[in-house]
Amino acid sequence: MDFPRHDTEAAQRTRDNIARHAEQARDWHLADLFRDDPRRFETLSHQACGLLADLSKQRLTSETLDLLTELARARGLEHWIHCLFDGGEVNWTEQRPAMHWRLREDPQRAPDVHAQLTRMERMVKRIHSGQWRGCEGDAITDVVNVGVGGSDLGPLMASFALSEYRPEQGQRPRLHFVSSMDGSQIAPLLDELNPATTLIVVSSKSFTTVDTLSNAGTARCWLQDAFPEQNGAVLRCHFIGISAQPSRMGEWGIHEDNQLQFWDWVGGRYSLWSTIGLPIALTVGMDSFRELLAGAHEMDRHFIESPWDRNLPVLMGLVDVWNLNFLDITARAVLPYDGRLKHLPAYLEQLEMESNGKSVTRAGETVDYHTCPVIWGEVGPNAQHAFYQLLHQGTQPVACEFIVAARHSRRSGNAVGSGQLVEQHQLTLANCLAQSRLLALGEAALPNETHLPPFKRYRGNQPSTTLMLDELTPRHLGALLALYEQKVFVQAVLWGINPFDQWGVEMGKQIARDMTQVLESGDGGDTLDSSSRALAERARKLRG
Ligand code: F6P
Repeated sequence: MDFPRHDTEAAQRTRDNIARHAEQARDWHLADLFRDDPRRFETLSHQACGLLADLSKQRLTSETLDLLTELARARGLEHWIHCLFDGGEVNWTEQRPAMHWRLREDPQRAPDVHAQLTRMERMVKRIHSGQWRGCEGDAITDVVNVGVGGSDLGPLMASFALSEYRPEQGQRPRLHFVSSMDGSQIAPLLDELNPATTLIVVSSKSFTTVDTLSNAGTARCWLQDAFPEQNGAVLRCHFIGISAQPSRMGEWGIHEDNQLQFWDWVGGRYSLWSTIGLPIALTVGMDSFRELLAGAHEMDRHFIESPWDRNLPVLMGLVDVWNLNFLDITARAVLPYDGRLKHLPAYLEQLEMESNGKSVTRAGETVDYHTCPVIWGEVGPNAQHAFYQLLHQGTQPVACEFIVAARHSRRSGNAVGSGQLVEQHQLTLANCLAQSRLLALGEAALPNETHLPPFKRYRGNQPSTTLMLDELTPRHLGALLALYEQKVFVQAVLWGINPFDQWGVEMGKQIARDMTQVLESGDGGDTLDSSSRALAERARKLRG
């Protein structure tokens, strides 16, 4: 690999050293590394904020981490961490800071943030207590979050993960999430809902995203058709808006009292801690929502204060760089062994790939090394029966990430005995540990299995990290998500890229606008490539 040309001499020297070290590492097998060092787990696992990160099943040694740490130092990580937490312009292509970490600070340090949280709390309490009424005077039974990307994935993931927690008081409404622009989610949902008892939350940082505005428009028509005489009351009683653009919310028709704000310095994919987290607070109540923030804040402090040799975001960032840039492992599978974390892979796909899927450095140079790996995932036990075959016997190296809670902590499931559920948790944990062991050691994990025919052989040596949470609570989830956010930042510093913009997505939006015109009127079709023109023409013809 080759890092940016403006690299310091120290950085160049270090990466040459790492490259030489990686040449040796190519011959390592995890089975040998474990056999040769009985204390490997003790040396290569670290704990913070109720999380344990076991890096011992990665294809590396302490020397590897030392070398990578040197590289991080030479690439100015310390300076960039200060810059992030001092509110420096880390998002240089949009000339602004990235201060999502401020959303989890205390009221003295972030009074503006807490003023909005207090507004949100009032709304949450009114909904839970049945005081928020629809235009016909009914209490709200269903809330629909209309948003996409960061205005959907974070709230959806965390609400689902914590749905066993309940508000301190009152009744929580049923929550629904609508993101897809094609109407395939909103249409069947509205068929089921009662307009008199439904509240729509329109979540959009920019309040210009067509996906969200088209779904919100459909919901507005549905409500206006249901209550044709009450246009003002419909908007007043059935819509909340959340955005960094209050004037656009107002123009769309969101009543001033129903507007929640956040700020330009919060990236969409980093926004679940802000008022965008309203669905989470509706699910678990404000006390638990604040616990989520507290867990994330604790991880921020750990990131700022801990020495790098036991700093989880730094270490995990270094491991990813090692795998991608030095061992050429270009894919990573996120495998939660907990159905409650079902939406975590999709959330991380956005967080990591939208942040670090970049190829131009701070100096404006095109990189000639890989940045973000391809990330995908699925709930582990289900994935075992789907794509694990490729992990075990396929031809591609894949770095795996296992996420599991050590303690069973189910709060619901009263219909079945808790003993039964403890047993199921145990089974899941056993499978998680068995899979990471088999991936690492291959057939050496089963010493009695000798003389296997070629098609049954397991070569192993697939590296993995296991993240073990003490328990899945709001606080632990907050810490876990902040760990990922800060890890993404560490990697971006090593790669010399901006993790806080997403210009690649912006151009897609612009082209889609032009294409809409071609589909509507045919105008502009002659400027298209032959494939796009033919497809557009065919669709126009078939639609009549
Ligand atoms: O299209 C990408 C993106 O800008 C994401 O970064 C963002 O989370 C999503 O769209 C939604 O944007 P908004 O919250 O402004 O509607």
